[in-house]
Amino acid sequence: KDFKNKVLNGEDDKLKAVKAEISQWADFAIDKQFLVGATEQFVKSMDEGLKHSASAKEYMPMIPTFVTGIPTGKETGLYLAADLGGTNFRVCSIKLNGDHTHELKQSKFKIPLDLMKNSTADALFSYLAKKVEAFLDEHHKEYSANTNGSLKLGFTFSFPVDQTALNRGKLIRWTKGFDLPDCVNKDVVELLQSHIDLLGVKVDVVALANDTVGTLLSRAYSNNEAKTHANTVLGCIFGTGTNGAYFEKLSNISKLDLTTVPKGATGMVINTEWGSFDNTLKVLPKTKYDDIVDKETANQGYHLFEKRISGMFLGELLRVILIDLFERGFIFTELFESRRGSLPHRLSEPWLLDSEVLSYLQIDDSTDLKMSQLVLENHLRLPTTREERLVIQKITQVVSHRAAYLSSIPIAAIVGRVKDQYKNDDRDFEIGCDGSVVEFYPGFQEKILEAFNLINPLEGTNKKLSLKIAKDGSGVGAALCASVAI
Ligand code: GLC
Repeated sequence: KDFKNKVLNGEDDKLKAVKAEISQWADFAIDKQFLVGATEQFVKSMDEGLKHSASAKEYMPMIPTFVTGIPTGKETGLYLAADLGGTNFRVCSIKLNGDHTHELKQSKFKIPLDLMKNSTADALFSYLAKKVEAFLDEHHKEYSANTNGSLKLGFTFSFPVDQTALNRGKLIRWTKGFDLPDCVNKDVVELLQSHIDLLGVKVDVVALANDTVGTLLSRAYSNNEAKTHANTVLGCIFGTGTNGAYFEKLSNISKLDLTTVPKGATGMVINTEWGSFDNTLKVLPKTKYDDIVDKETANQGYHLFEKRISGMFLGELLRVILIDLFERGFIFTELFESRRGSLPHRLSEPWLLDSEVLSYLQIDDSTDLKMSQLVLENHLRLPTTREERLVIQKITQVVSHRAAYLSSIPIAAIVGRVKDQYKNDDRDFEIGCDGSVVEFYPGFQEKILEAFNLINPLEGTNKKLSLKIAKDGSGVGAALCASVAI
C-alpha cells in the first residue's frame, strides 16, 4: 500500500506507467459483492437455459442428459467406457461390484494433434475405434475374438452435445482446442458405432455421457453414505476445461419433451456447460489479457467463463501478460538486449505453458526463487532475474486466485438451487470433482471453499459442503450410464 500511495502521488513517467499498471491489475480482484451478484446472475442464466431448446450465446446450454436417477452403489456388471475430452483418449473396462466398489482396467492414448484440428470426423473416430479394438485385444480377448456376445460401452464425450436420448446426441460446437468442422451437428454415438462396426468389433455404444455427468454418477456410486453422511449434489470438472452437472426437477426443465422421458421419472441430470456462463460478459471480469486469449481460440466468443478458469487457459494468460509487460518495457529488457533483439521463441508460442508449470511457480519458496528459475529455463528456455521471477510468481498467484474464486460461483448457485430438494434430509452436501486443476493445483480447493463461504448459499440450513475428488470419474460414470441403458 505504501508503494501504491507513493506511486499514486508520483509525477514522473515511469511512476505514471506503474500507476496505470496497478489500476489494470485491480480488474483481477474479486470481492464478496461481486461473488454474490455473479451467483444471482448464474442462477438466472440456468433458468433461461432450461427454457430454450436451441443453443444460443446468451444463456447456458443446460443440456438434458436422459439420466433420470442417481446411483445407489448397488449397480453391477461389466462395461466398457471410452473417454474423449481433453488431450488423452482413454478406454477402460469397469466391473461394478454392487457394493460401492469397482475394478478397472484402462489404456490411455495421447490424441495426435493433427486429429484434433485440420482433420475430419471420420479420421478422428476411426482412430478412436481402433483404440477400442486394441484395448479389447489386450485386456478382453474373449470379446475381441467375437465369440461371447457384445460388450456395452458408455461413451464419455466431453463437449457440448444436443442430446435427444441416452444414446443420441449431436455435437453443438467444439471446445478446448478441438476443431473439426465437419463433425459439428453430427451424432457422435453413430460416428463411433459405425467405425467400431467397420472393424467388426462386438461392442454396442449404448450411452453418451459428459465427463461431469460421469463424475456425478461415479461419486454417488462410490459414496458410501453410511460412512460419509453426505449427499452428492453436483459433479464437476476443473481440468483442461470446466463444467458441472446436477439433478434437476422435471417440472423446472420446461424445454424438455416429457414424452421422451421414462415413466415414473421425477428429475433428470442436466449438463450445464457452465463454461459458457456469461458469454456476453455482463458480469465476468474482463481484462485485455482475457480478450487476447479468447481471440487465439477456435471457439472465439464462447466458453468465456471457462477461459478464465480452466487449465488450458491459465498458462496462456500468464504468457500473454508476460509478453505485454515486456512490450511495455517492464520486464525482460536486459535479456532482450543481450540476445541482440529477440526473446526465447517458446515465449511467443501460444498454449505452450501448462498449468502444471504454473503450480510450481506459485508455490516456490526457495531462496531467490531458484526453483522457478530452473522451471522457466526448462519449459520456456527463459533466463530470468530474481525480480522478474517475483513478478512472474505474483502474476501466477493473481491469475489462479481469480480462477479459484470464480469457480465457486457455479457451485454456490447450484447448491443454493438444489437445497430445497433435500430439505427433509439432514445429511451434508458433497460435490464430486475431477480434473488436474482441482486435484493438483496448490490451494485451489481451499480457495474455492473460501469464496463459497463468502457467498454462503447454505445459510439458514445446518448443512456443510465438502469437495471430494471422484477417482476414475468418467470411466465409472460411463459404465453406470451404460448400466442404466440396458
Ligand atoms: C468443456 C466442454 C464440456 C466439458 C468440460 C470439462 O467445457 O465443453 O463438455 O465437460 O470442458 O471437460
